[in-house]
Amino acid sequence: MYDTVRFAGLEIKNPFIAASGCFGYGWEFPALSEKFGAVVAKTITVKPREGNSPPRIFEVPGGVINRVGLQNCGLKNFAEKHLPRLKKIGTTVIVSIFGENFRQWAELIGTLEKEVAALELNLSCPNLNKQILTKNPEKCGNIVEKLRKLTDKPLIAKINAVDSPAAVSSLLSDRGIDAIVCSNTIPARVELNGRIYKGGLSGRLIKNFVLKAIREIRKKSDVPIAACGGIRGLKDVDDYRKAGADVFVLGSVLLRQPDILPLEKNIDSEGDIV
Ligand SMILES: Cc1cc2nc3c(=O)[nH]c(=O)nc-3n(C[C@H](O)[C@H](O)[C@H](O)COP(=O)(O)O)c2cc1C
Repeated sequence: MYDTVRFAGLEIKNPFIAASGCFGYGWEFPALSEKFGAVVAKTITVKPREGNSPPRIFEVPGGVINRVGLQNCGLKNFAEKHLPRLKKIGTTVIVSIFGENFRQWAELIGTLEKEVAALELNLSCPNLNKQILTKNPEKCGNIVEKLRKLTDKPLIAKINAVDSPAAVSSLLSDRGIDAIVCSNTIPARVELNGRIYKGGLSGRLIKNFVLKAIREIRKKSDVPIAACGGIRGLKDVDDYRKAGADVFVLGSVLLRQPDILPLEKNIDSEGDIV
């Protein structure tokens, strides 16, 4: 139904990608995973992480605020238990990774690079106590430059739409990144029972921020761009394509409609939640 596309040096069978964190480890529902051109497994860290204690996901009108906190089973468990299952599915396998320091990034790349089509560097997670890496472009660029030397596999940088996306994208592209995913969730706060929680906002509320960011990135650079922010239907895809995006990443919509592909059949594109 869709044409094969080239993205980040990869040939993928269609331009739709399942976003990190919104589709489990990517293999749990093989019949759904294989409809995507590529699946990005949830962000993996060297050590297992339990993530934040509940509440972790809040529905707000037009979006979702999450503070999951990078819950994941850790590199060893992922490589032994999940990755072999994911690789059996007929889709391109991309794994998202996050390191707290260079040694951890290097360990993640060293263990995974031979097993995956590409690695996505999560440089913009708002759910950690540490500062978002892309807030400090020079530091972020230095890390990426060192990581580039560790692998020939495509490296994709996940940034957000609000921290100087155009400047960050061209800097990272100069330091060897093969493609940009814009956007991660956008830092947000939500009040529940008198308590304020910090989290990341996703869904259709962020689409206009992401569109603007992608236009700006495209004006400044030729780097391949994966649009990610509130995509639910063909109109969104069209808007992002016109802004300069090459491929389209489906995120929190998958929490509600994991079987959304093919998008032509989506009857829920005006739904309130995502
Ligand atoms: C519950 C949840 C968990 C997420 N976990 C991750 C994650 O582990 N790594 C990551 O890079 N992005 C994560 N994201 C962000 C999504 O991949 C995506 O960038 C974001 O939701 C924006 O796309 P959307 O508006 O289509 O949801 C998560 C989002 C949600 C809603």
